[in-house]
Amino acid sequence: MEFPLHLLVLAGGESSRTGGAGPKSLLGLCGKPLLEHVIEASSPISFESQSLVVGAKHGDEIAAWLTTSGKEGWNTVVQPKALGTGDAVRCALDILPDEGRLLILYGDMPLLTAETLGFVAEQKSNVLLTAVVDDPTGYGRIIRDEEGSMTGIVEQADTDEISQGVPEVNAGVYLLSIQDLRKAIASLTNENAQGEFYLTDAATAVLDESDGVTVVLEDGDDEVRGVNTMAELARASRIAADRNLLFHMEKGVIFEDPGSTFIECGVDIGAGTRVLPFTVIRTGVELGCDCVVGPFAHLRPGTRLDDAAEVGNFVESKNALLGAGAKAKHLSYLGDCVVGSGANIGCGTITANFDGKEKHQTVIGDRASIGSGTVLVAPVKVGAKARTGAGAIVTRGCDVPDGETVVGVPAKPISPSQS
Ligand code: UD1
Ligand code: CA
Repeated sequence: MEFPLHLLVLAGGESSRTGGAGPKSLLGLCGKPLLEHVIEASSPISFESQSLVVGAKHGDEIAAWLTTSGKEGWNTVVQPKALGTGDAVRCALDILPDEGRLLILYGDMPLLTAETLGFVAEQKSNVLLTAVVDDPTGYGRIIRDEEGSMTGIVEQADTDEISQGVPEVNAGVYLLSIQDLRKAIASLTNENAQGEFYLTDAATAVLDESDGVTVVLEDGDDEVRGVNTMAELARASRIAADRNLLFHMEKGVIFEDPGSTFIECGVDIGAGTRVLPFTVIRTGVELGCDCVVGPFAHLRPGTRLDDAAEVGNFVESKNALLGAGAKAKHLSYLGDCVVGSGANIGCGTITANFDGKEKHQTVIGDRASIGSGTVLVAPVKVGAKARTGAGAIVTRGCDVPDGETVVGVPAKPISPSQS
Protein backbone atom coordinates (compact mmCIF):
# COMPACT_ATOMS: atom_id res chain seq x y z
CA MET A 1 0.00 0.00 0.00
CA GLU A 2 1.24 3.45 -0.80
CA PHE A 3 1.01 5.87 2.09
CA PRO A 4 -0.21 9.42 1.52
CA LEU A 5 2.44 12.07 1.00
CA HIS A 6 2.73 15.12 3.26
CA LEU A 7 4.95 18.20 2.89
CA LEU A 8 6.93 19.91 5.63
CA VAL A 9 8.96 23.09 5.06
CA LEU A 10 11.26 24.36 7.81
CA ALA A 11 11.57 28.11 8.29
CA GLY A 12 11.93 28.33 12.04
CA GLY A 13 15.59 29.32 12.22
CA GLU A 14 16.72 32.61 13.72
CA SER A 15 18.25 33.99 10.51
CA SER A 16 21.30 34.97 12.53
CA ARG A 17 23.74 34.81 9.60
CA THR A 18 21.79 37.35 7.51
CA GLY A 19 22.41 40.15 9.99
CA GLY A 20 18.92 40.38 11.47
CA ALA A 21 17.24 41.75 8.31
CA GLY A 22 13.91 40.08 9.17
CA PRO A 23 13.11 36.41 8.55
CA LYS A 24 15.48 34.86 6.03
CA SER A 25 12.76 32.91 4.27
CA LEU A 26 11.07 36.18 3.26
CA LEU A 27 14.19 37.72 1.72
CA GLY A 28 13.49 38.50 -1.93
CA LEU A 29 15.27 36.60 -4.67
CA CYS A 30 14.50 37.64 -8.24
CA GLY A 31 11.18 39.16 -7.20
CA LYS A 32 9.94 36.41 -4.88
CA PRO A 33 10.73 35.48 -1.27
CA LEU A 34 13.03 32.49 -0.81
CA LEU A 35 10.13 30.58 0.72
CA GLU A 36 7.95 31.19 -2.32
CA HIS A 37 10.59 29.63 -4.57
CA VAL A 38 10.53 26.51 -2.39
CA ILE A 39 6.73 26.41 -2.28
CA GLU A 40 6.48 26.81 -6.06
CA ALA A 41 9.05 24.10 -6.77
CA SER A 42 6.98 21.69 -4.67
CA SER A 43 3.59 22.82 -6.01
CA PRO A 44 3.28 20.35 -8.94
CA ILE A 45 3.35 17.49 -6.39
CA SER A 46 0.07 16.62 -4.75
CA PHE A 47 0.23 16.45 -0.95
CA GLU A 48 -2.24 15.26 1.64
CA SER A 49 -1.19 18.18 3.88
CA GLN A 50 1.33 21.05 3.83
CA SER A 51 2.97 22.33 7.00
CA LEU A 52 5.43 25.10 7.66
CA VAL A 53 7.54 25.45 10.80
CA VAL A 54 8.10 29.06 11.83
CA GLY A 55 10.02 30.54 14.74
CA ALA A 56 8.44 32.48 17.60
CA LYS A 57 10.24 35.68 16.55
CA HIS A 58 9.17 35.90 12.90
CA GLY A 59 6.23 33.49 12.85
CA ASP A 60 3.49 36.12 12.57
CA GLU A 61 5.25 37.85 9.70
CA ILE A 62 5.65 34.61 7.76
CA ALA A 63 2.04 33.54 8.45
CA ALA A 64 0.84 36.97 7.28
CA TRP A 65 2.86 36.59 4.08
CA LEU A 66 1.22 33.20 3.40
CA THR A 67 -2.18 34.90 3.62
CA THR A 68 -1.40 38.02 1.58
CA SER A 69 0.28 36.05 -1.16
CA GLY A 70 -2.70 33.70 -1.44
CA LYS A 71 -0.91 30.52 -0.39
CA GLU A 72 -3.78 28.39 0.76
CA GLY A 73 -4.00 25.17 2.74
CA TRP A 74 -0.89 25.62 4.91
CA ASN A 75 -0.68 24.60 8.57
CA THR A 76 1.82 26.72 10.46
CA VAL A 77 3.58 25.26 13.47
CA VAL A 78 5.48 27.51 15.86
CA GLN A 79 8.82 26.19 17.07
CA PRO A 80 9.20 28.02 20.42
CA LYS A 81 13.02 28.00 20.38
CA ALA A 82 15.35 27.36 17.45
CA LEU A 83 16.93 24.24 18.87
CA GLY A 84 17.82 22.79 15.50
CA THR A 85 16.24 21.25 12.41
CA GLY A 86 15.51 18.00 14.30
CA ASP A 87 13.63 19.96 16.94
CA ALA A 88 11.69 21.81 14.22
CA VAL A 89 10.53 18.45 12.83
CA ARG A 90 9.66 17.27 16.34
CA CYS A 91 7.31 20.26 16.69
CA ALA A 92 5.66 19.49 13.35
CA LEU A 93 5.15 15.80 14.16
CA ASP A 94 2.56 16.88 16.74
CA ILE A 95 0.16 17.83 13.96
CA LEU A 96 1.08 15.11 11.45
CA PRO A 97 -0.72 11.74 11.21
CA ASP A 98 0.84 8.55 12.59
CA GLU A 99 1.50 7.09 9.18
CA GLY A 100 2.41 8.41 5.78
CA ARG A 101 5.43 9.69 3.92
CA LEU A 102 6.90 13.12 4.54
CA LEU A 103 8.83 15.28 2.08
CA ILE A 104 10.93 17.67 4.18
CA LEU A 105 12.43 20.81 2.64
CA TYR A 106 14.25 23.83 4.04
CA GLY A 107 12.84 27.30 3.40
CA ASP A 108 16.25 28.66 2.39
CA MET A 109 16.87 26.47 -0.68
CA PRO A 110 15.34 28.55 -3.49
CA LEU A 111 17.08 26.95 -6.47
CA LEU A 112 15.74 23.41 -6.14
CA THR A 113 13.70 22.57 -9.21
CA ALA A 114 10.28 21.01 -9.52
CA GLU A 115 11.85 18.16 -11.54
CA THR A 116 14.21 17.23 -8.71
CA LEU A 117 11.53 17.36 -6.04
CA GLY A 118 9.13 15.40 -8.25
CA PHE A 119 11.77 12.71 -8.71
CA VAL A 120 12.42 12.43 -4.95
CA ALA A 121 8.70 12.38 -4.14
CA GLU A 122 8.03 9.41 -6.37
CA GLN A 123 10.64 7.14 -4.69
CA LYS A 124 9.28 4.19 -2.76
CA SER A 125 11.91 4.01 0.00
CA ASN A 126 13.27 6.50 2.52
CA VAL A 127 15.44 8.95 0.58
CA LEU A 128 18.06 11.59 1.29
CA LEU A 129 19.18 13.86 -1.56
CA THR A 130 22.89 14.67 -1.89
CA ALA A 131 25.10 16.44 -4.41
CA VAL A 132 28.80 16.63 -5.16
CA VAL A 133 29.81 20.31 -5.15
CA ASP A 134 32.95 22.33 -5.87
CA ASP A 135 32.95 24.05 -2.49
CA PRO A 136 31.26 22.04 0.28
CA THR A 137 31.97 24.65 2.99
CA GLY A 138 28.93 25.21 5.17
CA TYR A 139 27.02 22.07 4.20
CA GLY A 140 26.64 18.77 6.03
CA ARG A 141 29.17 16.32 4.57
CA ILE A 142 28.05 12.85 3.55
CA ILE A 143 30.33 10.23 5.11
CA ARG A 144 30.39 6.82 3.43
CA ASP A 145 32.03 3.50 4.31
CA GLU A 146 34.23 1.46 1.99
CA GLU A 147 31.18 -0.12 0.34
CA GLY A 148 29.79 3.33 -0.38
CA SER A 149 26.97 3.17 2.17
CA MET A 150 26.27 6.40 4.04
CA THR A 151 27.32 6.15 7.66
CA GLY A 152 26.59 9.68 8.77
CA ILE A 153 26.32 13.39 8.01
CA VAL A 154 28.87 15.70 9.59
CA GLU A 155 27.80 19.33 9.93
CA GLN A 156 30.30 22.09 9.14
CA ALA A 157 30.78 22.93 12.83
CA ASP A 158 31.57 19.29 13.61
CA THR A 159 33.98 18.63 10.74
CA ASP A 160 37.59 17.55 11.15
CA GLU A 161 40.29 17.81 8.51
CA ILE A 162 39.18 14.65 6.74
CA SER A 163 35.44 15.35 6.62
CA GLN A 164 36.10 18.95 5.54
CA GLY A 165 37.51 17.67 2.29
CA VAL A 166 34.44 15.54 1.44
CA PRO A 167 32.75 17.10 -1.61
CA GLU A 168 29.43 15.26 -1.28
CA VAL A 169 26.92 17.29 0.73
CA ASN A 170 23.46 16.97 2.20
CA ALA A 171 21.04 18.86 -0.05
CA GLY A 172 18.45 19.17 2.71
CA VAL A 173 15.71 17.24 0.88
CA TYR A 174 14.31 14.18 2.63
CA LEU A 175 11.53 11.72 1.87
CA LEU A 176 10.90 9.75 5.06
CA SER A 177 8.26 7.49 6.54
CA ILE A 178 6.52 9.41 9.33
CA GLN A 179 6.49 6.29 11.50
CA ASP A 180 10.24 5.75 11.12
CA LEU A 181 10.90 9.46 11.63
CA ARG A 182 8.94 9.57 14.89
CA LYS A 183 11.15 6.85 16.36
CA ALA A 184 14.37 8.49 15.22
CA ILE A 185 13.37 11.97 16.41
CA ALA A 186 12.42 10.58 19.83
CA SER A 187 15.95 9.37 20.39
CA LEU A 188 17.79 12.44 19.04
CA THR A 189 20.44 14.06 21.20
CA ASN A 190 22.13 17.42 20.87
CA GLU A 191 25.66 16.29 21.60
CA ASN A 192 27.42 18.23 18.87
CA ALA A 193 29.42 21.41 18.42
CA GLN A 194 26.31 23.59 18.11
CA GLY A 195 24.28 21.90 20.86
CA GLU A 196 21.41 21.49 18.37
CA PHE A 197 19.07 18.63 17.52
CA TYR A 198 20.04 17.78 13.97
CA LEU A 199 17.49 16.40 11.51
CA THR A 200 20.49 14.91 9.72
CA ASP A 201 21.11 12.51 12.64
CA ALA A 202 17.47 11.39 12.56
CA ALA A 203 17.56 10.94 8.78
CA THR A 204 20.77 8.89 9.04
CA ALA A 205 19.12 6.61 11.60
CA VAL A 206 15.99 6.19 9.46
CA LEU A 207 17.99 5.31 6.35
CA ASP A 208 20.18 2.94 8.32
CA GLU A 209 17.29 1.03 9.85
CA SER A 210 15.09 0.86 6.77
CA ASP A 211 17.57 0.27 3.94
CA GLY A 212 16.81 3.75 2.71
CA VAL A 213 18.82 5.27 -0.12
CA THR A 214 20.77 8.39 -0.95
CA VAL A 215 20.05 9.92 -4.34
CA VAL A 216 22.96 11.90 -5.75
CA LEU A 217 21.81 14.87 -7.81
CA GLU A 218 23.92 15.15 -10.98
CA ASP A 219 25.32 18.64 -11.66
CA GLY A 220 23.58 19.77 -8.50
CA ASP A 221 26.11 22.45 -7.54
CA ASP A 222 23.72 25.36 -8.18
CA GLU A 223 20.50 23.63 -7.34
CA VAL A 224 21.41 22.67 -3.79
CA ARG A 225 22.73 26.10 -2.89
CA GLY A 226 21.32 27.19 0.46
CA VAL A 227 21.06 30.86 1.39
CA ASN A 228 22.59 31.54 4.79
CA THR A 229 24.30 34.89 4.23
CA MET A 230 23.67 37.98 2.11
CA ALA A 231 26.61 36.98 -0.09
CA GLU A 232 24.89 33.64 -0.75
CA LEU A 233 21.64 35.47 -1.47
CA ALA A 234 23.39 37.57 -4.12
CA ARG A 235 24.96 34.49 -5.66
CA ALA A 236 21.64 32.62 -5.77
CA SER A 237 19.95 35.69 -7.22
CA ARG A 238 22.37 35.79 -10.16
CA ILE A 239 21.83 32.07 -10.78
CA ALA A 240 18.03 32.47 -10.74
CA ALA A 241 18.25 35.49 -13.07
CA ASP A 242 20.46 33.51 -15.47
CA ARG A 243 17.88 30.72 -15.49
CA ASN A 244 15.22 33.31 -16.35
CA LEU A 245 17.35 34.66 -19.22
CA LEU A 246 17.75 31.15 -20.64
CA PHE A 247 14.02 30.50 -20.33
CA HIS A 248 13.26 33.64 -22.37
CA MET A 249 15.99 32.93 -24.94
CA GLU A 250 14.40 29.54 -25.56
CA LYS A 251 11.17 31.40 -26.37
CA GLY A 252 12.84 33.62 -28.97
CA VAL A 253 13.86 36.68 -26.96
CA ILE A 254 17.14 38.36 -27.95
CA PHE A 255 19.58 39.58 -25.30
CA GLU A 256 22.62 41.51 -26.54
CA ASP A 257 24.43 41.16 -23.25
CA PRO A 258 22.77 38.68 -20.86
CA GLY A 259 25.49 39.32 -18.26
CA SER A 260 24.34 42.88 -17.65
CA THR A 261 20.61 42.13 -17.90
CA PHE A 262 18.54 41.25 -14.84
CA ILE A 263 15.12 39.69 -15.28
CA GLU A 264 13.07 38.67 -12.28
CA CYS A 265 10.71 35.70 -12.13
CA GLY A 266 7.18 36.02 -13.48
CA VAL A 267 7.94 38.11 -16.57
CA ASP A 268 6.34 37.46 -19.98
CA ILE A 269 8.24 38.39 -23.14
CA GLY A 270 7.14 37.75 -26.70
CA ALA A 271 9.36 36.31 -29.42
CA GLY A 272 11.53 38.70 -31.39
CA THR A 273 11.74 41.27 -28.58
CA ARG A 274 15.25 42.67 -28.11
CA VAL A 275 16.47 43.49 -24.63
CA LEU A 276 19.58 45.67 -24.72
CA PRO A 277 22.34 45.79 -22.06
CA PHE A 278 21.96 47.07 -18.49
CA THR A 279 18.22 46.56 -18.37
CA VAL A 280 16.24 45.50 -15.30
CA ILE A 281 12.80 43.91 -15.73
CA ARG A 282 10.79 43.27 -12.58
CA THR A 283 8.17 40.66 -11.73
CA GLY A 284 4.82 40.99 -13.48
CA VAL A 285 6.05 42.90 -16.54
CA GLU A 286 4.57 41.78 -19.87
CA LEU A 287 6.22 42.54 -23.18
CA GLY A 288 4.73 41.71 -26.56
CA CYS A 289 6.60 40.55 -29.66
CA ASP A 290 9.23 42.61 -31.48
CA CYS A 291 9.59 45.25 -28.76
CA VAL A 292 12.91 46.96 -28.05
CA VAL A 293 13.87 47.62 -24.44
CA GLY A 294 17.00 49.38 -23.18
CA PRO A 295 19.84 49.92 -22.97
CA PHE A 296 19.56 51.07 -19.34
CA ALA A 297 15.79 50.65 -19.00
CA HIS A 298 14.05 49.83 -15.72
CA LEU A 299 10.65 48.22 -16.20
CA ARG A 300 8.83 47.90 -12.89
CA PRO A 301 5.71 45.90 -11.96
CA GLY A 302 2.58 46.67 -13.91
CA THR A 303 4.41 47.62 -17.09
CA ARG A 304 2.92 46.18 -20.29
CA LEU A 305 4.25 46.82 -23.77
CA ASP A 306 2.13 45.77 -26.73
CA ASP A 307 3.86 44.47 -29.87
CA ALA A 308 6.66 46.58 -31.37
CA ALA A 309 6.61 49.18 -28.57
CA GLU A 310 10.00 50.65 -27.67
CA VAL A 311 11.38 51.85 -24.35
CA GLY A 312 14.93 53.10 -24.49
CA ASN A 313 17.82 54.65 -22.61
CA PHE A 314 17.18 55.63 -18.99
CA VAL A 315 13.44 55.11 -19.08
CA GLU A 316 11.70 53.95 -15.91
CA SER A 317 8.15 52.63 -16.09
CA LYS A 318 5.64 51.42 -13.50
CA ASN A 319 1.95 50.56 -14.00
CA ALA A 320 2.41 51.76 -17.55
CA LEU A 321 0.61 50.34 -20.56
CA LEU A 322 2.19 51.21 -23.91
CA GLY A 323 0.14 50.40 -27.00
CA ALA A 324 1.48 48.76 -30.13
CA GLY A 325 4.36 50.67 -31.69
CA ALA A 326 4.40 53.38 -28.98
CA LYS A 327 7.88 54.78 -28.34
CA ALA A 328 9.56 56.32 -25.30
CA LYS A 329 13.17 56.22 -26.26
CA HIS A 330 15.08 58.48 -23.88
CA LEU A 331 15.19 59.73 -20.29
CA SER A 332 11.58 59.36 -19.15
CA TYR A 333 9.53 58.40 -16.13
CA LEU A 334 6.29 56.71 -17.12
CA GLY A 335 4.27 55.90 -13.99
CA ASP A 336 0.56 55.06 -13.76
CA CYS A 337 -0.14 55.80 -17.37
CA VAL A 338 -1.74 54.48 -20.52
CA VAL A 339 -0.01 55.39 -23.76
CA GLY A 340 -1.93 54.83 -26.98
CA SER A 341 -0.62 52.89 -29.93
CA GLY A 342 1.83 54.70 -32.17
CA ALA A 343 2.27 57.55 -29.67
CA ASN A 344 5.71 59.13 -29.37
CA ILE A 345 6.94 60.17 -25.95
CA GLY A 346 9.70 62.76 -26.44
CA CYS A 347 13.00 62.69 -24.63
CA GLY A 348 12.75 63.68 -20.97
CA THR A 349 8.96 63.39 -20.63
CA ILE A 350 7.71 62.85 -17.10
CA THR A 351 4.32 61.68 -15.92
CA ALA A 352 4.08 63.41 -12.54
CA ASN A 353 1.86 60.82 -10.91
CA PHE A 354 2.23 61.61 -7.19
CA ASP A 355 0.70 64.70 -5.60
CA GLY A 356 2.33 64.08 -2.24
CA LYS A 357 -0.58 61.98 -1.00
CA GLU A 358 -1.95 59.87 -3.84
CA LYS A 359 -1.00 58.48 -7.22
CA HIS A 360 -2.95 59.58 -10.30
CA GLN A 361 -3.18 58.41 -13.89
CA THR A 362 -2.06 59.98 -17.16
CA VAL A 363 -3.75 58.88 -20.38
CA ILE A 364 -2.11 59.61 -23.71
CA GLY A 365 -4.11 58.92 -26.88
CA ASP A 366 -3.18 56.98 -29.99
CA ARG A 367 -0.50 58.64 -32.13
CA ALA A 368 -0.14 61.59 -29.77
CA SER A 369 3.22 63.34 -29.87
CA ILE A 370 4.64 64.49 -26.56
CA GLY A 371 7.39 67.09 -26.97
CA SER A 372 10.78 66.77 -25.30
CA GLY A 373 10.81 67.68 -21.63
CA THR A 374 7.02 67.71 -21.21
CA VAL A 375 5.68 67.23 -17.70
CA LEU A 376 2.20 65.72 -17.53
CA VAL A 377 0.75 66.43 -14.09
CA ALA A 378 -1.73 63.65 -13.35
CA PRO A 379 -4.62 63.16 -13.44
CA VAL A 380 -4.59 64.39 -17.01
CA LYS A 381 -5.45 63.22 -20.52
CA VAL A 382 -3.82 64.05 -23.82
CA GLY A 383 -6.09 63.15 -26.73
CA ALA A 384 -5.42 61.10 -29.84
CA LYS A 385 -3.04 62.80 -32.28
CA ALA A 386 -2.68 65.73 -29.84
CA ARG A 387 0.76 67.34 -29.43
CA THR A 388 2.65 69.10 -26.67
CA GLY A 389 5.51 71.52 -27.30
CA ALA A 390 9.00 71.06 -25.88
CA GLY A 391 9.07 71.89 -22.17
CA ALA A 392 5.28 72.10 -21.82
CA ILE A 393 3.77 71.53 -18.41
CA VAL A 394 0.29 70.13 -18.80
CA THR A 395 -1.33 70.80 -15.44
CA ARG A 396 -3.66 68.43 -13.61
CA GLY A 397 -7.13 68.14 -15.02
CA CYS A 398 -6.32 70.39 -18.03
CA ASP A 399 -6.99 67.68 -20.59
CA VAL A 400 -5.77 68.23 -24.13
CA PRO A 401 -8.50 67.44 -26.71
CA ASP A 402 -7.88 65.12 -29.66
CA GLY A 403 -5.74 66.73 -32.32
CA GLU A 404 -4.96 69.87 -30.22
CA THR A 405 -1.45 71.27 -29.79
CA VAL A 406 -0.51 72.82 -26.44
CA VAL A 407 2.67 74.68 -25.50
CA GLY A 408 4.21 76.57 -22.57
CA VAL A 409 3.93 76.69 -18.82
CA PRO A 410 1.17 76.04 -17.96
CA ALA A 411 0.42 74.49 -21.32
CA LYS A 412 -2.17 76.33 -23.44
CA PRO A 413 -3.50 75.67 -26.92
CA ILE A 414 -1.30 77.26 -29.51
CA SER A 415 -2.94 80.40 -30.96
CA PRO A 416 -4.07 80.15 -34.62
CA SER A 417 -1.52 82.81 -35.66
CA GLN A 418 1.34 80.76 -34.19
CA SER A 419 0.29 77.48 -35.76
C1 UD1 B 1 21.32 22.34 6.91
C2 UD1 B 1 21.69 20.87 7.14
C3 UD1 B 1 22.94 20.54 6.33
C4 UD1 B 1 22.67 20.79 4.86
C5 UD1 B 1 22.17 22.22 4.64
C6 UD1 B 1 21.67 22.37 3.21
C7 UD1 B 1 21.02 20.28 9.42
C8 UD1 B 1 21.47 20.02 10.82
N1 UD1 B 1 21.95 20.65 8.57
O1 UD1 B 1 22.39 23.14 7.40
O2 UD1 B 1 23.29 19.20 6.53
O3 UD1 B 1 23.82 20.56 4.09
O4 UD1 B 1 21.09 22.56 5.52
O5 UD1 B 1 21.41 23.71 2.93
O6 UD1 B 1 19.85 20.13 9.13
N2 UD1 B 1 15.41 25.72 10.97
C9 UD1 B 1 14.31 25.59 11.78
N3 UD1 B 1 14.51 25.48 13.12
C10 UD1 B 1 15.75 25.46 13.68
C11 UD1 B 1 16.87 25.58 12.84
C12 UD1 B 1 16.66 25.71 11.48
O7 UD1 B 1 13.16 25.58 11.31
O8 UD1 B 1 15.83 25.35 14.93
C13 UD1 B 1 15.19 25.90 9.51
C14 UD1 B 1 15.82 27.18 8.98
O9 UD1 B 1 14.91 28.27 9.03
C15 UD1 B 1 16.23 26.81 7.56
C16 UD1 B 1 16.43 25.30 7.62
O10 UD1 B 1 15.81 24.85 8.82
O11 UD1 B 1 15.19 27.10 6.64
C17 UD1 B 1 17.91 24.90 7.64
O12 UD1 B 1 18.54 25.51 8.74
P1 UD1 B 1 19.98 26.14 8.63
O13 UD1 B 1 20.35 26.67 9.97
O14 UD1 B 1 20.05 27.05 7.48
O15 UD1 B 1 20.84 24.82 8.35
P2 UD1 B 1 22.26 24.73 7.63
O16 UD1 B 1 23.31 25.10 8.60
O17 UD1 B 1 22.22 25.41 6.33
CA1 CA C 1 20.75 26.75 5.31
